[in-house]
Amino acid sequence: MKHPISRRNFLAAAPLAAPLANSALAADTPLPAETGGKPAILGGSKAFTGTFPGWPVYDQTEEKALVDTLRTGKWYRGSGQTVGKFEQAYAQLTGSKNCLATANGTSALFTSLNALGVEPGDEVIVPPYTFVATINVVLRQHALPVFVDTDLETFQMDARKVEAAITPQTRAIMPVHLGGSVCDLDALLAIAAKHKIPLIEDACQAHLAEWKGRKVGTYGQAGCFSFQASKNLNSGEGGAILTDDEELRERCYAFHNNGSGLKYIGTSFSYNSSGANLRMTEFQGALLLAQMTRIEAQARTRTENARYLTSLLKDIPGILPARMYDGCTRNAYHLYMFRYDKTRFANAPRSVFLKALSAEGIPAASGYTPLNTQPFLKNVLASRGYKKLFPEKVLAEWQERNRCPVNDRLCDEAVWFSQTMLLSPRSAMDQIADAVRKIQANASALPRA
Ligand SMILES: Cc1ncc(COP(=O)(O)O)c(C=O)c1O
Repeated sequence: MKHPISRRNFLAAAPLAAPLANSALAADTPLPAETGGKPAILGGSKAFTGTFPGWPVYDQTEEKALVDTLRTGKWYRGSGQTVGKFEQAYAQLTGSKNCLATANGTSALFTSLNALGVEPGDEVIVPPYTFVATINVVLRQHALPVFVDTDLETFQMDARKVEAAITPQTRAIMPVHLGGSVCDLDALLAIAAKHKIPLIEDACQAHLAEWKGRKVGTYGQAGCFSFQASKNLNSGEGGAILTDDEELRERCYAFHNNGSGLKYIGTSFSYNSSGANLRMTEFQGALLLAQMTRIEAQARTRTENARYLTSLLKDIPGILPARMYDGCTRNAYHLYMFRYDKTRFANAPRSVFLKALSAEGIPAASGYTPLNTQPFLKNVLASRGYKKLFPEKVLAEWQERNRCPVNDRLCDEAVWFSQTMLLSPRSAMDQIADAVRKIQANASALPRA
Protein backbone atom coordinates (compact mmCIF):
# COMPACT_ATOMS: atom_id res chain seq x y z
CA MET A 1 0.00 0.00 0.00
CA LYS A 2 1.25 3.48 -0.84
CA HIS A 3 1.92 5.87 2.00
CA PRO A 4 -0.81 8.49 1.79
CA ILE A 5 1.33 11.58 2.46
CA SER A 6 1.95 13.76 -0.60
CA ARG A 7 5.15 15.80 -0.88
CA ARG A 8 3.34 19.04 -0.15
CA ASN A 9 1.34 17.63 2.77
CA PHE A 10 4.50 16.09 4.11
CA LEU A 11 6.47 19.28 3.76
CA ALA A 12 3.62 21.28 5.21
CA ALA A 13 3.13 18.81 8.07
CA ALA A 14 6.78 18.46 9.08
CA PRO A 15 7.33 22.07 10.06
CA LEU A 16 4.29 23.17 11.98
CA ALA A 17 5.46 26.39 13.47
CA ALA A 18 6.09 29.65 11.63
CA PRO A 19 8.86 30.95 13.85
CA LEU A 20 10.70 34.19 13.71
CA ALA A 21 14.15 33.91 12.24
CA ASN A 22 16.64 31.44 13.55
CA SER A 23 14.54 30.03 16.32
CA ALA A 24 14.75 27.13 13.86
CA LEU A 25 18.45 26.92 14.54
CA ALA A 26 18.06 27.02 18.28
CA ALA A 27 20.45 25.35 20.69
CA ASP A 28 21.39 21.73 20.17
CA THR A 29 18.87 19.26 21.47
CA PRO A 30 20.73 16.87 23.76
CA LEU A 31 20.82 13.22 22.77
CA PRO A 32 18.37 11.12 24.78
CA ALA A 33 20.06 8.86 27.30
CA GLU A 34 18.77 5.77 25.52
CA THR A 35 19.71 5.73 21.85
CA GLY A 36 19.67 1.97 21.40
CA GLY A 37 17.05 -0.28 22.94
CA LYS A 38 13.43 -0.67 22.07
CA PRO A 39 11.88 1.25 19.20
CA ALA A 40 9.30 3.82 20.33
CA ILE A 41 6.60 1.97 18.39
CA LEU A 42 7.22 -0.99 20.74
CA GLY A 43 7.12 1.14 23.87
CA GLY A 44 10.74 2.38 23.98
CA SER A 45 11.71 6.02 24.25
CA LYS A 46 11.85 8.24 21.18
CA ALA A 47 15.17 8.63 19.40
CA PHE A 48 14.33 12.23 18.52
CA THR A 49 12.90 14.28 21.32
CA GLY A 50 13.28 17.78 19.87
CA THR A 51 11.24 19.68 17.32
CA PHE A 52 12.29 19.98 13.73
CA PRO A 53 12.59 23.55 12.44
CA GLY A 54 9.53 25.31 11.16
CA TRP A 55 9.13 26.74 7.70
CA PRO A 56 9.10 29.48 6.53
CA VAL A 57 11.75 31.31 8.50
CA TYR A 58 11.03 35.03 8.69
CA ASP A 59 11.35 38.10 10.85
CA GLN A 60 11.10 41.87 10.63
CA THR A 61 12.96 41.82 7.31
CA GLU A 62 9.99 40.15 5.63
CA GLU A 63 7.47 42.21 7.62
CA LYS A 64 9.10 45.45 6.57
CA ALA A 65 9.41 44.38 2.95
CA LEU A 66 5.71 43.57 2.78
CA VAL A 67 4.53 46.68 4.59
CA ASP A 68 6.80 48.90 2.52
CA THR A 69 5.34 47.38 -0.65
CA LEU A 70 1.83 47.80 0.69
CA ARG A 71 2.44 51.46 1.39
CA THR A 72 3.71 52.19 -2.10
CA GLY A 73 0.24 51.35 -3.38
CA LYS A 74 2.02 49.79 -6.36
CA TRP A 75 1.18 46.15 -6.10
CA TYR A 76 1.57 45.08 -9.70
CA ARG A 77 4.85 44.81 -11.59
CA GLY A 78 3.67 47.25 -14.22
CA SER A 79 3.58 50.05 -11.66
CA GLY A 80 6.14 48.96 -9.03
CA GLN A 81 9.81 48.08 -9.20
CA THR A 82 10.16 45.23 -6.73
CA VAL A 83 9.66 42.33 -9.15
CA GLY A 84 12.24 43.91 -11.45
CA LYS A 85 14.68 44.17 -8.53
CA PHE A 86 14.09 40.55 -7.64
CA GLU A 87 14.71 39.50 -11.24
CA GLN A 88 18.03 41.30 -11.23
CA ALA A 89 19.03 39.82 -7.89
CA TYR A 90 18.07 36.27 -8.89
CA ALA A 91 19.88 36.57 -12.22
CA GLN A 92 22.96 37.73 -10.33
CA LEU A 93 22.68 34.96 -7.75
CA THR A 94 22.46 32.30 -10.46
CA GLY A 95 24.85 33.85 -12.94
CA SER A 96 22.18 34.09 -15.62
CA LYS A 97 21.85 36.92 -18.13
CA ASN A 98 18.10 37.20 -17.63
CA CYS A 99 15.50 36.25 -15.11
CA LEU A 100 11.77 36.55 -15.67
CA ALA A 101 9.62 36.24 -12.56
CA THR A 102 6.31 34.40 -12.89
CA ALA A 103 3.28 33.71 -10.72
CA ASN A 104 4.54 30.21 -9.86
CA GLY A 105 6.76 27.39 -11.11
CA THR A 106 4.00 25.87 -13.22
CA SER A 107 3.68 29.21 -15.06
CA ALA A 108 7.45 29.28 -15.59
CA LEU A 109 7.37 25.84 -17.25
CA PHE A 110 4.19 26.63 -19.18
CA THR A 111 5.62 29.91 -20.45
CA SER A 112 8.89 28.24 -21.48
CA LEU A 113 7.11 25.51 -23.43
CA ASN A 114 5.03 28.12 -25.22
CA ALA A 115 7.96 30.38 -25.96
CA LEU A 116 9.99 27.44 -27.30
CA GLY A 117 7.20 26.54 -29.69
CA VAL A 118 5.86 23.32 -28.21
CA GLU A 119 2.51 22.87 -29.88
CA PRO A 120 -0.43 20.49 -29.94
CA GLY A 121 0.66 17.19 -31.47
CA ASP A 122 4.28 17.51 -30.33
CA GLU A 123 6.10 15.26 -27.88
CA VAL A 124 8.05 16.33 -24.79
CA ILE A 125 10.44 14.04 -22.94
CA VAL A 126 9.85 14.05 -19.18
CA PRO A 127 10.74 11.98 -16.12
CA PRO A 128 8.06 9.95 -14.33
CA TYR A 129 9.57 10.74 -10.92
CA THR A 130 8.51 14.36 -10.40
CA PHE A 131 5.73 16.61 -9.19
CA VAL A 132 2.71 16.41 -11.47
CA ALA A 133 3.14 20.02 -12.70
CA THR A 134 6.04 18.86 -14.93
CA ILE A 135 3.54 16.71 -16.82
CA ASN A 136 0.52 18.98 -16.58
CA VAL A 137 2.24 21.78 -18.48
CA VAL A 138 2.89 19.39 -21.38
CA LEU A 139 -0.75 18.35 -21.37
CA ARG A 140 -1.86 22.02 -21.28
CA GLN A 141 -0.05 22.38 -24.62
CA HIS A 142 -1.96 19.35 -25.87
CA ALA A 143 1.39 17.71 -26.40
CA LEU A 144 2.31 14.14 -25.49
CA PRO A 145 4.49 13.50 -22.43
CA VAL A 146 6.99 10.78 -23.24
CA PHE A 147 8.39 9.27 -20.08
CA VAL A 148 11.99 8.18 -19.74
CA ASP A 149 12.71 5.78 -16.91
CA THR A 150 14.53 6.78 -13.75
CA ASP A 151 18.09 6.01 -12.70
CA LEU A 152 17.48 3.99 -9.54
CA GLU A 153 20.63 5.16 -7.77
CA THR A 154 20.24 8.90 -8.35
CA PHE A 155 16.42 9.26 -8.54
CA GLN A 156 16.96 11.38 -11.71
CA MET A 157 15.82 10.84 -15.31
CA ASP A 158 18.08 8.16 -16.81
CA ALA A 159 20.00 10.04 -19.51
CA ARG A 160 21.14 6.71 -21.02
CA LYS A 161 17.54 6.05 -22.07
CA VAL A 162 16.64 9.43 -23.54
CA GLU A 163 17.86 8.98 -27.09
CA ALA A 164 15.66 5.93 -27.62
CA ALA A 165 12.63 8.06 -26.73
CA ILE A 166 13.26 10.76 -29.34
CA THR A 167 11.04 10.81 -32.44
CA PRO A 168 10.57 13.40 -35.22
CA GLN A 169 7.77 14.85 -33.04
CA THR A 170 10.01 15.53 -30.03
CA ARG A 171 10.06 19.29 -29.41
CA ALA A 172 11.65 19.53 -25.97
CA ILE A 173 13.52 17.54 -23.33
CA MET A 174 12.47 18.57 -19.84
CA PRO A 175 14.46 16.86 -17.10
CA VAL A 176 13.95 17.72 -13.44
CA HIS A 177 16.70 18.36 -10.90
CA LEU A 178 14.84 16.17 -8.50
CA GLY A 179 15.03 16.83 -4.81
CA GLY A 180 17.60 19.56 -5.35
CA SER A 181 20.18 17.16 -6.77
CA VAL A 182 21.18 17.54 -10.41
CA CYS A 183 20.28 15.29 -13.36
CA ASP A 184 23.04 14.10 -15.69
CA LEU A 185 23.29 17.46 -17.45
CA ASP A 186 26.34 16.72 -19.61
CA ALA A 187 24.71 13.67 -21.15
CA LEU A 188 21.35 15.38 -21.60
CA LEU A 189 22.82 18.54 -23.11
CA ALA A 190 24.83 16.46 -25.57
CA ILE A 191 21.71 14.58 -26.69
CA ALA A 192 19.70 17.82 -26.97
CA ALA A 193 22.45 19.42 -29.06
CA LYS A 194 22.87 16.38 -31.29
CA HIS A 195 19.15 16.29 -32.08
CA LYS A 196 18.72 20.09 -32.04
CA ILE A 197 15.98 19.86 -29.43
CA PRO A 198 15.71 22.52 -26.72
CA LEU A 199 16.37 21.46 -23.13
CA ILE A 200 14.22 23.02 -20.42
CA GLU A 201 15.55 22.49 -16.92
CA ASP A 202 12.82 21.97 -14.36
CA ALA A 203 14.85 23.37 -11.49
CA CYS A 204 11.76 23.99 -9.36
CA GLN A 205 13.36 22.09 -6.46
CA ALA A 206 16.97 23.05 -7.05
CA HIS A 207 17.71 26.62 -5.92
CA LEU A 208 21.48 27.16 -5.76
CA ALA A 209 22.26 23.63 -6.96
CA GLU A 210 25.31 23.45 -9.21
CA TRP A 211 26.66 21.33 -12.03
CA LYS A 212 30.43 21.60 -12.38
CA GLY A 213 30.46 24.77 -10.33
CA ARG A 214 27.76 26.60 -12.30
CA LYS A 215 24.21 27.09 -11.11
CA VAL A 216 21.51 24.84 -12.56
CA GLY A 217 18.87 26.61 -14.59
CA THR A 218 21.60 28.27 -16.65
CA TYR A 219 22.43 25.25 -18.82
CA GLY A 220 19.26 24.68 -20.83
CA GLN A 221 17.54 27.11 -23.20
CA ALA A 222 15.38 27.89 -20.18
CA GLY A 223 15.64 27.03 -16.48
CA CYS A 224 12.49 27.12 -14.38
CA PHE A 225 12.16 27.63 -10.62
CA SER A 226 9.34 27.49 -8.11
CA PHE A 227 9.03 29.61 -4.97
CA GLN A 228 5.96 27.77 -3.72
CA ALA A 229 5.63 27.55 0.07
CA SER A 230 7.52 24.27 0.51
CA LYS A 231 10.52 25.37 -1.57
CA ASN A 232 13.96 26.35 -0.29
CA LEU A 233 13.22 29.88 -1.54
CA ASN A 234 9.65 30.70 -0.63
CA SER A 235 7.14 33.43 -1.37
CA GLY A 236 4.04 31.29 -0.85
CA GLU A 237 3.70 31.06 -4.62
CA GLY A 238 6.16 32.27 -7.22
CA GLY A 239 8.36 31.20 -10.08
CA ALA A 240 11.13 32.29 -12.41
CA ILE A 241 12.63 31.51 -15.79
CA LEU A 242 16.33 31.91 -16.46
CA THR A 243 17.55 32.28 -20.01
CA ASP A 244 20.57 33.74 -21.75
CA ASP A 245 18.65 34.03 -25.00
CA GLU A 246 17.28 37.57 -25.45
CA GLU A 247 14.73 36.56 -28.06
CA LEU A 248 13.44 33.76 -25.90
CA ARG A 249 13.21 36.18 -23.01
CA GLU A 250 11.06 38.50 -25.09
CA ARG A 251 8.78 35.63 -26.08
CA CYS A 252 8.54 34.47 -22.46
CA TYR A 253 7.84 38.00 -21.26
CA ALA A 254 5.14 38.41 -23.87
CA PHE A 255 3.52 35.08 -23.12
CA HIS A 256 3.36 35.71 -19.37
CA ASN A 257 2.03 39.25 -19.96
CA ASN A 258 -1.07 38.49 -22.04
CA GLY A 259 1.02 38.35 -25.21
CA SER A 260 2.50 41.82 -24.81
CA GLY A 261 6.31 41.84 -24.85
CA LEU A 262 8.93 44.06 -23.24
CA LYS A 263 9.17 45.99 -26.48
CA TYR A 264 5.58 47.18 -25.96
CA ILE A 265 6.07 48.50 -22.42
CA GLY A 266 4.69 52.02 -22.33
CA THR A 267 2.41 51.46 -25.30
CA SER A 268 -1.11 50.23 -24.92
CA PHE A 269 -2.85 47.18 -26.27
CA SER A 270 -0.09 45.93 -28.56
CA TYR A 271 0.76 42.25 -28.72
CA ASN A 272 3.53 39.93 -29.94
CA SER A 273 1.54 36.76 -29.54
CA SER A 274 -1.27 35.17 -27.62
CA GLY A 275 -0.52 34.71 -23.95
CA ALA A 276 -1.86 34.66 -20.42
CA ASN A 277 -1.50 36.66 -17.24
CA LEU A 278 1.16 34.75 -15.30
CA ARG A 279 2.84 37.75 -13.68
CA MET A 280 4.40 37.83 -10.24
CA THR A 281 3.00 40.41 -7.80
CA GLU A 282 5.10 43.05 -6.08
CA PHE A 283 4.40 41.37 -2.75
CA GLN A 284 5.93 38.11 -3.96
CA GLY A 285 8.96 40.02 -5.23
CA ALA A 286 9.35 41.77 -1.88
CA LEU A 287 9.16 38.51 0.07
CA LEU A 288 11.66 36.86 -2.23
CA LEU A 289 14.20 39.64 -1.86
CA ALA A 290 13.90 39.31 1.90
CA GLN A 291 14.09 35.51 1.85
CA MET A 292 17.15 35.70 -0.37
CA THR A 293 19.09 37.22 2.51
CA ARG A 294 18.89 33.79 4.18
CA ILE A 295 19.19 31.39 1.28
CA GLU A 296 22.97 30.91 1.24
CA ALA A 297 23.33 30.24 4.97
CA GLN A 298 20.37 27.88 4.97
CA ALA A 299 21.77 26.03 1.97
CA ARG A 300 25.10 25.57 3.73
CA THR A 301 23.44 24.18 6.84
CA ARG A 302 21.44 21.72 4.74
CA THR A 303 24.55 20.57 2.91
CA GLU A 304 26.55 20.05 6.10
CA ASN A 305 23.76 18.10 7.74
CA ALA A 306 22.96 16.08 4.62
CA ARG A 307 26.59 15.06 4.21
CA TYR A 308 26.82 14.08 7.84
CA LEU A 309 23.55 12.17 7.68
CA THR A 310 24.77 10.30 4.59
CA SER A 311 27.98 9.38 6.38
CA LEU A 312 25.83 7.78 9.10
CA LEU A 313 23.11 6.19 6.98
CA LYS A 314 25.33 4.70 4.30
CA ASP A 315 26.70 2.22 6.82
CA ILE A 316 23.25 0.91 7.70
CA PRO A 317 22.50 -2.12 5.51
CA GLY A 318 19.38 -1.54 3.42
CA ILE A 319 19.49 2.27 3.62
CA LEU A 320 20.71 3.61 0.28
CA PRO A 321 21.07 7.41 0.11
CA ALA A 322 20.49 8.83 -3.40
CA ARG A 323 23.77 9.01 -5.26
CA MET A 324 24.85 12.25 -6.96
CA TYR A 325 26.39 12.37 -10.42
CA ASP A 326 30.04 13.44 -10.42
CA GLY A 327 29.09 16.73 -12.11
CA CYS A 328 26.79 17.69 -9.24
CA THR A 329 29.06 19.99 -7.29
CA ARG A 330 26.26 21.36 -5.14
CA ASN A 331 23.03 19.67 -4.10
CA ALA A 332 20.23 21.99 -2.94
CA TYR A 333 18.78 19.22 -0.75
CA HIS A 334 15.19 20.21 -1.20
CA LEU A 335 14.63 16.63 -0.15
CA TYR A 336 16.89 14.13 1.57
CA MET A 337 16.16 10.96 -0.41
CA PHE A 338 17.12 7.37 0.12
CA ARG A 339 15.93 3.89 -0.77
CA TYR A 340 14.71 1.43 1.80
CA ASP A 341 15.54 -2.21 1.14
CA LYS A 342 13.04 -4.15 3.21
CA THR A 343 14.99 -7.38 2.88
CA ARG A 344 17.51 -5.88 5.32
CA PHE A 345 14.67 -5.06 7.73
CA ALA A 346 13.13 -8.53 8.16
CA ASN A 347 10.91 -7.79 5.14
CA ALA A 348 9.03 -5.08 7.05
CA PRO A 349 7.14 -3.11 4.39
CA ARG A 350 8.17 0.50 3.88
CA SER A 351 4.88 1.67 5.44
CA VAL A 352 5.86 -0.16 8.65
CA PHE A 353 9.30 1.47 8.59
CA LEU A 354 7.71 4.91 8.12
CA LYS A 355 5.33 4.34 11.02
CA ALA A 356 8.20 3.24 13.23
CA LEU A 357 10.17 6.34 12.25
CA SER A 358 7.19 8.53 12.98
CA ALA A 359 6.89 6.97 16.44
CA GLU A 360 10.55 7.93 17.00
CA GLY A 361 9.55 11.56 16.33
CA ILE A 362 10.92 11.54 12.79
CA PRO A 363 8.52 12.42 9.95
CA ALA A 364 9.31 10.77 6.63
CA ALA A 365 7.39 10.34 3.39
CA SER A 366 7.21 7.65 0.76
CA GLY A 367 7.47 10.15 -2.07
CA TYR A 368 5.97 10.11 -5.52
CA THR A 369 3.75 7.53 -7.10
CA PRO A 370 4.51 6.61 -10.75
CA LEU A 371 3.15 9.43 -12.90
CA ASN A 372 3.26 7.46 -16.14
CA THR A 373 0.57 5.08 -14.92
CA GLN A 374 -1.76 7.66 -13.38
CA PRO A 375 -5.35 7.00 -14.49
CA PHE A 376 -5.86 10.67 -15.35
CA LEU A 377 -3.29 10.34 -18.13
CA LYS A 378 -5.25 7.53 -19.73
CA ASN A 379 -8.32 9.75 -19.69
CA VAL A 380 -6.43 12.63 -21.32
CA LEU A 381 -5.13 10.36 -24.06
CA ALA A 382 -8.63 9.01 -24.63
CA SER A 383 -10.09 12.52 -24.93
CA ARG A 384 -11.61 13.91 -28.10
CA GLY A 385 -8.82 16.45 -28.51
CA TYR A 386 -5.98 13.96 -28.20
CA LYS A 387 -7.70 11.58 -30.59
CA LYS A 388 -7.84 14.38 -33.14
CA LEU A 389 -4.22 15.37 -32.62
CA PHE A 390 -2.39 12.05 -32.46
CA PRO A 391 -2.54 9.03 -34.78
CA GLU A 392 -4.43 6.10 -33.31
CA LYS A 393 -1.27 3.99 -33.43
CA VAL A 394 0.70 6.53 -31.36
CA LEU A 395 -1.96 6.61 -28.65
CA ALA A 396 -2.36 2.84 -28.73
CA GLU A 397 1.38 2.27 -28.30
CA TRP A 398 1.86 5.01 -25.74
CA GLN A 399 1.36 2.81 -22.70
CA GLU A 400 3.90 0.24 -23.82
CA ARG A 401 6.38 2.88 -24.89
CA ASN A 402 6.07 4.65 -21.56
CA ARG A 403 6.66 1.75 -19.24
CA CYS A 404 9.18 2.70 -16.54
CA PRO A 405 9.93 -0.44 -14.52
CA VAL A 406 12.88 1.06 -12.66
CA ASN A 407 10.76 4.01 -11.60
CA ASP A 408 8.03 1.63 -10.41
CA ARG A 409 10.62 0.01 -8.18
CA LEU A 410 11.92 3.35 -6.93
CA CYS A 411 8.39 4.45 -6.04
CA ASP A 412 8.11 1.34 -3.84
CA GLU A 413 11.47 1.88 -2.12
CA ALA A 414 11.89 5.66 -1.76
CA VAL A 415 11.90 7.52 1.54
CA TRP A 416 12.19 11.30 1.92
CA PHE A 417 13.06 13.65 4.71
CA SER A 418 12.12 17.30 4.25
CA GLN A 419 14.62 20.09 3.70
CA THR A 420 13.56 21.70 6.99
CA MET A 421 14.87 18.68 8.92
CA LEU A 422 18.29 19.46 7.47
CA LEU A 423 18.15 22.88 9.13
CA SER A 424 18.28 21.17 12.52
CA PRO A 425 21.30 21.01 14.77
CA ARG A 426 23.74 18.27 13.80
CA SER A 427 22.71 16.14 16.78
CA ALA A 428 19.33 15.61 15.08
CA MET A 429 21.15 13.72 12.32
CA ASP A 430 22.65 11.41 14.95
CA GLN A 431 19.21 10.83 16.36
CA ILE A 432 17.75 10.05 12.94
CA ALA A 433 20.47 7.46 12.36
CA ASP A 434 19.96 6.05 15.87
CA ALA A 435 16.27 5.66 15.14
CA VAL A 436 16.94 3.76 11.92
CA ARG A 437 19.45 1.47 13.62
CA LYS A 438 17.05 0.78 16.46
CA ILE A 439 14.24 -0.01 14.01
CA GLN A 440 16.52 -2.32 12.06
CA ALA A 441 17.68 -4.20 15.14
CA ASN A 442 14.06 -4.87 16.06
CA ALA A 443 12.62 -5.15 12.56
CA SER A 444 11.13 -8.60 12.99
CA ALA A 445 9.12 -7.41 16.02
CA LEU A 446 7.57 -4.35 14.33
CA PRO A 447 3.76 -4.41 14.13
CA ARG A 448 2.86 -5.21 10.50
CA ALA A 449 -0.79 -4.11 10.45
C1 LIG B 1 9.61 19.48 -9.95
C2 LIG B 1 8.55 20.52 -9.90
N1 LIG B 1 8.10 21.07 -11.04
C3 LIG B 1 7.17 22.02 -11.04
C4 LIG B 1 6.61 22.50 -9.88
C5 LIG B 1 5.53 23.51 -9.94
O1 LIG B 1 5.80 24.65 -9.21
P1 LIG B 1 4.63 25.52 -8.56
O2 LIG B 1 4.02 24.71 -7.47
O3 LIG B 1 5.32 26.74 -8.06
O4 LIG B 1 3.66 25.83 -9.64
C6 LIG B 1 7.06 21.97 -8.66
C7 LIG B 1 6.53 22.48 -7.39
O5 LIG B 1 5.95 21.86 -6.59
C8 LIG B 1 8.03 20.94 -8.67
O6 LIG B 1 8.46 20.40 -7.54
